[in-house]
Amino acid sequence: MKFTLENTDQKSKARTGVVKTDHGDIQTPIFMPVGTAGSVKAVHQRELTYDIKAQIILGNTYHLYLRPGLDVLEKAGGLHKFNGWNKPILTDSGGYQVFSLAGTRQITEEGVLFKSHIDGSKHKFTPENVMDIQRSIGADIIMAFDECTPYPCEFGYARKSMEMTHRWLKRCIDQVDSTSGKYGYSQALFPIVQGSVYKDLRKQSAEFVASCGREGNAIGGLSVGEPAEMMYEMTELVTDILPKDKPRYLMGVGTPANILECIALGVDMFDCVMPTRNARNGMLFTSEGIMNMRNEKWKDDFSPIDPNINSHVSSFYSKAYLRHLTVSKEILAAQIASVHNLSFYLWLVAEAREKIKSGEFAAWKDVMVKKVSTRL
Ligand code: GUN
Repeated sequence: MKFTLENTDQKSKARTGVVKTDHGDIQTPIFMPVGTAGSVKAVHQRELTYDIKAQIILGNTYHLYLRPGLDVLEKAGGLHKFNGWNKPILTDSGGYQVFSLAGTRQITEEGVLFKSHIDGSKHKFTPENVMDIQRSIGADIIMAFDECTPYPCEFGYARKSMEMTHRWLKRCIDQVDSTSGKYGYSQALFPIVQGSVYKDLRKQSAEFVASCGREGNAIGGLSVGEPAEMMYEMTELVTDILPKDKPRYLMGVGTPANILECIALGVDMFDCVMPTRNARNGMLFTSEGIMNMRNEKWKDDFSPIDPNINSHVSSFYSKAYLRHLTVSKEILAAQIASVHNLSFYLWLVAEAREKIKSGEFAAWKDVMVKKVSTRL
């Protein structure tokens, strides 16, 4: 994997670049649709490619390890072959899901003992086996095994947790560097900055992560309930330390406004369940603002969902029809809304890239943040 920085905005810290992987190039800043269990919920791979124009999708170590399991994934020849998505894939390490989803869990220096949320069976994740699992899944970008601290989190716990995440990172690096990809292409390991909302911890963690010299770096432990201003402050502190010539991935963020603000702080990659999860609950993100499709207001509004978005569903279906499908709990409502919301997120980052290139990003961003946050 190789990153080339292409443009740097003069009025903000926004940048554009290209991440080259063995499954193709990714133009940054980019949003990565979440495909937890190897599928972006309610969305076909064809729609991801041709309507949404996704360049990379996410998978989850925790989910894929539990189901379908590594034997099936290895027999298939890796996740790309299994799900038919032949472009880049990134897998999260389970360092988040194990803390948010698994039942009783026990954290030790060795790793984490947890119970599956599916059948209650007992499992252990260690930095070493999480690297091996991600080798079997075969994503192009794999994530270090970390502890994502909750918010709020006492300073003492945040410090100890960050120090353990750093020791785990060294073990992840040793494991990855002493093994190789199983399917003939390379896999890049991204370390994750932690440190909760404490400036000195974030600084220490960013410096440690930067010193590891990997091909890209990630920022974790944010968007876990802290105020947005605090998230921006931590993000800026970290992006100021992480190397300029490596991509920076802000994990689990966020709303369209969060993404624009963090692009302005020098973040290159984002993922979040929000566009798909909220779509399934009838919430639509559009270039004019946010719509609740259950609202009576759309009952006889036959205008297209969002003609500004270059995706079939966004201009083909009307607001009134989508409202009808939503209140009728039709499966098609979730499909249309998911494709639309993801198309909107991908449109937003594509616009951001163009505005960075033309030098108009900072002014455009301020107007867009207001627009995309408006409740229609
Ligand atoms: N997803 C969102 N935040 C995090 C984090 O801190 N760590 C990991 N591994 N995944 C995340």
